[in-house]
Amino acid sequence: MRRYRVNPSGGILLENVAPKPVGPDEVRVRMRAVSLNFRDHLIAQGAYPLPVKADLIPASDGAGEVVEVGSAVGTVRVGDRVATAFFPDWSDGEINPPAVAKSLGGSVDGVLAEEVVLPNNALLPVSDCLTFEQAATLPCAGVTAWNAIEQVGRVAPGDVVLLQGTGGVSTFALQFAKLAGATVIQISSSDKKLQIARSRGADHLINYTVTPAWDVEALRLTGGRGVDLVVEIGGAATLERSIRAVRMGGRIAGIGLAGGLGKIDPLPILTGVVQLTGILVGNHQMYRAMVRAMVISGIEPVIGRIFGFEKATVALDHIVHGDSGKIVIRI
Ligand SMILES: NC(=O)c1ccc[n+]([C@@H]2O[C@H](COP(=O)([O-])OP(=O)(O)OC[C@H]3O[C@@H](n4cnc5c(N)ncnc54)[C@H](OP(=O)(O)O)[C@@H]3O)[C@@H](O)[C@H]2O)c1
Repeated sequence: MRRYRVNPSGGILLENVAPKPVGPDEVRVRMRAVSLNFRDHLIAQGAYPLPVKADLIPASDGAGEVVEVGSAVGTVRVGDRVATAFFPDWSDGEINPPAVAKSLGGSVDGVLAEEVVLPNNALLPVSDCLTFEQAATLPCAGVTAWNAIEQVGRVAPGDVVLLQGTGGVSTFALQFAKLAGATVIQISSSDKKLQIARSRGADHLINYTVTPAWDVEALRLTGGRGVDLVVEIGGAATLERSIRAVRMGGRIAGIGLAGGLGKIDPLPILTGVVQLTGILVGNHQMYRAMVRAMVISGIEPVIGRIFGFEKATVALDHIVHGDSGKIVIRI
């Protein structure tokens, strides 16, 4: 059985190992597809800000077929199509430290392998409407965007949502915001990517390289009121403008650190009564609600490129290009 490991001196290494036995609460999955996130690139470079398991099998997001179940497992059967849960122990309810202590491809082994043995609570059902490649994109980027739009944002018809960038999370957020009936202001560094976002339903486009004061433009587009929700991807590079772009009492879903870490003035948060909520992906209940909505509405994940298993290193390097659409490895 072949699998990848994070190389302590950078990158990932392919290795051949004997299959692991399956414990009573565990399931063996023949992986069919793995989708990459920016986190996987950071972890492979040793640049991830959170603790990472030694000798890690990388990547949190995958889908495959159950090939063996432990004696105490009653939730899945051989032949079931399954996707991985980013946080195996966060089934539903409020976030709490034990629920998010284990994250696949971070604090515990991930799924970039021909076969994985996972606890049964790390597996979620895959809809018949989705291919393995599509299903593999959902556990992190899809659920994070769903959490931002539906849980934190509580987006309703007529709301105005500002999305930063055109990466994996923001592309799902565009699809979910339009499904919820929102008007979307999309900002990006690339006119080409903005036109793609337009074809996916974005209503107003701002190139943040050409118009660095995109917060002023967002205020103009909303008649001075401000947007109802900002999906915050840029971190220190964008947060102050996000606070200025949001309406009084509006919401910011704090997701990314694409523009790095920094310090922030609390005054505009107080005077604007801004609800700034951090997001850590989401739970299994959010995944199920998201998939139901996708199936009913016909929303399909946007896949940018598919690489072969042997090309996983190239695929991981490709993440930094920030292409529109998810990078998937077919196994
Ligand atoms: N908190 C969580 O649970 C969670 C979950 C998933 C991801 N994340 C984080 O969220 C971020 C996005 O993830 P992703 O998977 O969507 O990454 P991605 O596919 O690599 O996309 C990143 C995008 O960020 C945009 N960006 C970078 N700097 C920006 C800036 N200054 N202003 C506006 N946009 C900017 C770029 O958009 P353009 O190319 O269009 O300019 C880029 O394509 C990453 O930092 C990731 O680590 C957090």
